[in-house]
Amino acid sequence: MARHVVAPLSEVPPGTRKLVDAGRRPIVVFNVEGRLYAVSNRCPHAGGPLVAGKLVGLVEACEPGAYRYSRRNEILKCPWHGWEFDLATGKSRCDPDTVSVRAYPVDIEPGANVLDGPLAVETFEVAVENDYIVVTV
Ligand code: FES
Repeated sequence: MARHVVAPLSEVPPGTRKLVDAGRRPIVVFNVEGRLYAVSNRCPHAGGPLVAGKLVGLVEACEPGAYRYSRRNEILKCPWHGWEFDLATGKSRCDPDTVSVRAYPVDIEPGANVLDGPLAVETFEVAVENDYIVVTV
C-alpha cells in the first residue's frame, strides 16, 4: 500500500469535504467534526459521485416508535439513488455484508515529516506552517 499526500489539512476544515487524487484514484476526504474519513468517489451501485452525497446520522429503533439518533454526519447518502454508506467502514447500511464503497485509512502528518520523510513530494523553498492529510491506498 502506498501513502499519498493529498491536501493540506487547512483545505478540509471540519464540516467540509474535498475530492482528491491519490495515485490516480478519485477519493473524497470528509472532515466530520475533526474526524477524517476517506472513501472512493464512485458509488458501487451505478457510479454516482459520492462527493456530492449528503451526510446524515444513524437512526435505529429497538421497538416501534422508539427511535434513537446517533453518529451524526457519519453516514454518507449517495446523491443519485440514496444508498447509504458508513463513512468509517464503507459498508452499505442496507446490505453491509455484500455491498460497500472502498474506504481508505487517512492520517494527518506534520508538515515537517512530509517535506523531509518518505512521503516527500516535489518541493520548493517554503515555510512549513500546516499539517497535511495522507491517504493510504
Ligand atoms: S449510484 Fe449511488 S445509489 Fe445509485
